[in-house]
Amino acid sequence: MNSNLPDNTNFSRPFYNNVRNEEDVFKRCHQAKLPLILKGPTGCGKSRFVDAMAFDLKLPLITVACNEDTSATDLIGRFLIKGNETVWQDGPLTRAVRTGALLYLDEVVEAREDVIVLIHSLSDYRRILYIDALSEKIVAPNSFQLILSYNPGYQKSFKELKPSTKQRFVSIEFGYAKPDIEAKIIRAESELDEKRCRSLVSLANKIRSLHELSLAESVSTRLLVNAAILINSGLNEREACEVAISNALSDDQDVIRALNDLVSLYM
Ligand SMILES: Nc1ncnc2c1ncn2[C@@H]1O[C@H](COP(=O)(O)OP(=O)(O)O)[C@@H](O)[C@H]1O
Ligand SMILES: [Mg+2]
Repeated sequence: MNSNLPDNTNFSRPFYNNVRNEEDVFKRCHQAKLPLILKGPTGCGKSRFVDAMAFDLKLPLITVACNEDTSATDLIGRFLIKGNETVWQDGPLTRAVRTGALLYLDEVVEAREDVIVLIHSLSDYRRILYIDALSEKIVAPNSFQLILSYNPGYQKSFKELKPSTKQRFVSIEFGYAKPDIEAKIIRAESELDEKRCRSLVSLANKIRSLHELSLAESVSTRLLVNAAILINSGLNEREACEVAISNALSDDQDVIRALNDLVSLYM
């Protein structure tokens, strides 16, 4: 779990290219105290988006990367033994509620069921956190916002958010940006020339259209940025795509070979 300090200790705005109207929607939801779900595949800009929103709203951001061990106690806090004393230590959720921060629970479906129960009372109009261990009830300040992310298409995961949970949230759908915007993002992140950024996007869209490759996840903007950074550093284009894209997408030698064949058509 990486909860800890606010993520937005940067002084300049994290680069985020608005793809549809998500920045406006986010800020309206924050203003209206509506909790949000960001849906979409890995590497399509969800975390970067939240970083940029925290920067714009001038609010601290607390991120928790959830996994199957993440429990309600991890988020609320626990008593710790220090010397011969027991002291209470707030978890990241309690800290976010107390300080009115943005709380980003990344991959929340991975977490234990008690986490989902916990966020129910925070995601309706009550915006209340009950801390049973302290017999405390905290009403979230106006600036607090709960943001969940999840990846509905992830084929290996059978986990889903229940409709009763989903319906408490406004959902923003993230996908791959249109080709010219995706090329612009890759260029901004890597400083690679426009022509080769466009070639990377064409390659990616070809791979994304080939369902017969049975990839668990398709090629993300993140992988394209990685390839572009390597190419811009002087690595041969095909080698960069092989290590940053083909090998990252599959462990199956036949699939890797098929991906490398596509790379040689486009790069
Ligand atoms: N709209 C965007 N604006 C800027 N960068 C983006 C955008 N979408 C994707 N990226 C790039 O892709 C990388 C991965 O995005 P990230 O936010 O970590 O994805 P996610 O959280 O959805 O897995 C970022 O580091 C950034 O380089
Ligand atoms: Mg992320």
